[in-house]
Amino acid sequence: MELLGAATVVLLVCIACLLSFVAWTGRSGKGKMPPGPAPLPILGNMLQVKPKNLAKILQKLSEEYGPVFTVHLGSDPVVVLHGHDVVKEALVDRADEFATRGRMPMGDRANNGLGIVFSNSEEWLQLRRFTLSTLRNFGMGKRSIEERIQEETQYLLEEINKTKGTPFDPTFTLSCAISNVICSIVFGKRYGYRDRKFLALMNNMNSIFEMMNSYWGQVHSMFSKILDYLPGPHNKLFTEIDALKAFVSEEVKMHQASLDPSSPQDFIDCFLNKMQEEKEHPNSSFHMKNLITSTFDLFIAGTVTTSTTIRYGLLLLLKYPKIQEKVQEEIDRVVGQSRRPCVADRTQMPYTDAVVHEIQRFISLIPLALPHTVTKDTHFREYVIPKGTTIFPVLSSVLHDSKEFPNPNEFNPGHFLNENGTFRKSEFFMPFSAGKRICLGEGLARMEIFLLMAAILQKFTLKPVVDPQELNITPTLSGTGNVPPAYQLCALPR
Ligand code: HEM
Ligand SMILES: *[C@@H]1O[C@H](CO)[C@@H](O)[C@H](O)[C@H]1NC(C)=O
Ligand SMILES: *[C@@H]1O[C@H](CO)[C@@H](O)[C@H](O)[C@H]1NC(C)=O
Ligand SMILES: *[C@@H]1O[C@H](CO)[C@@H](O)[C@H](O)[C@H]1NC(C)=O
Repeated sequence: MELLGAATVVLLVCIACLLSFVAWTGRSGKGKMPPGPAPLPILGNMLQVKPKNLAKILQKLSEEYGPVFTVHLGSDPVVVLHGHDVVKEALVDRADEFATRGRMPMGDRANNGLGIVFSNSEEWLQLRRFTLSTLRNFGMGKRSIEERIQEETQYLLEEINKTKGTPFDPTFTLSCAISNVICSIVFGKRYGYRDRKFLALMNNMNSIFEMMNSYWGQVHSMFSKILDYLPGPHNKLFTEIDALKAFVSEEVKMHQASLDPSSPQDFIDCFLNKMQEEKEHPNSSFHMKNLITSTFDLFIAGTVTTSTTIRYGLLLLLKYPKIQEKVQEEIDRVVGQSRRPCVADRTQMPYTDAVVHEIQRFISLIPLALPHTVTKDTHFREYVIPKGTTIFPVLSSVLHDSKEFPNPNEFNPGHFLNENGTFRKSEFFMPFSAGKRICLGEGLARMEIFLLMAAILQKFTLKPVVDPQELNITPTLSGTGNVPPAYQLCALPR
């Protein structure tokens, strides 16, 4: 009897697989969904597409299926855009059709469709526009964003100086510095690097980033429909997110209490003013929940990304001391030791500029961008992408394209230099994505990375605690983002 039961189950599973295979082969091809490996029921392509280092597996699949293909992460199909040409064709040439944010289980659960990163339609447009123009106005205001970064850099240098050449892990110091730039714009203040409450927030953010990129984070995004109802390590993520949101709400309350509408001091003040202005509109996007969620978006998107990029960048400079030396030579020649590096120096510093670009290219911090989708059935090349299908524009496939960057897996600033030593611009430089959803903080992030790295190298020489040859530069976690291995360094005053 039991044997018969088992045989029935096996038979049913086989039939289910067969049916889904037949259904699948009928759904993909010319005039239909892009091709891809046949999925299993529920599990999808789990057997081919392991939730570990997705970018690498997608690279392999693109060799088999071409630049546009379909994979099933869990039971949902995802259309993958692989390589410069298709990514540009979708995000830039057909920007309006491909600007919609796709489902991202963690972000959707955290933000509930509010804020900037995970919202859509009119609401997204309004909030994005307002945020960009507010950031720009702060750039022209009393203290420019450049000055805010330079000021924070002084605190950072002091903090590094306190290590007196002894080994330290730069993670928290860098998070604090970068986060303070955002805090200064958004909350109108900065926090001390030893402030316990602030350090706890940095800890929240770093664990959110790590959890998102961990194996469990990936499994969650594939099977969220089931996992959201079960206990497990994926739920810890949302506790961390709630802690950050609570902090943001508290700040908003304090701002409300002290607001002087005639002289807004920061992003929150500007948003509160806008809420007042639009309070007669019944469906205005400027309400309390969007204020908190947008502020939260800026706070987290503006901290982990940039600080991880710099932390990864410093690791690469430890690995390649000759490159570090050449950057320092250029800083000494162009800036000298008596003044702070500024944005205007950048055009005079092609080598440093190339190193900064190469860091962003090499690490491909957000390898698959964030998910996009289409709002109606969309013809793309010879296929049709059904409305609502998740789309991954694979940024790492553009950043590591060997046609544009010979030996793409090698760290080589030459990728961004002409033979005569001038800076070489590349259309393939897309670490911030492209099109209408392009990172809202691109300008800020690029300023921060350049100014902080130049200031650190102006004052310190960085040395590893092990032989550079032994330094591992492969990400330890790779999901939505690439997380560099933990390391220590010594900063020797110059
Ligand atoms: C090195 C640093 C950074 C990198 C590599 C980066 C990368 C990205 C990427 C790949 C996206 C997704 C684009 C897409 O959907 O196609 C994005 C979106 C976004 N980023 Fe950044 N980012 C960085 C820094 C920042 C900073 C400093 C801020 C804060 C001001 C910020 C705020 C945002 C926001 C609000 C979005 C959502 C935009 C939207 O959906 O319309 N990012 N970023
Ligand atoms: C580091 O500290 C020393 C001694 O206190 C001081 O002379 C030097 O200027 C400091 N350097 C930086 C970059 O802050
Ligand atoms: C407000 O409602 C109108 C009509 O329903 C809609 O067209 C418009 O996009 C909405 N505006 C916002 C900001 O949601
Ligand atoms: C350097 O080379 C690039 C391209 O090879 C060229 O466009 C540029 O004009 C050259 N610049 C100088 C100063 O020679």
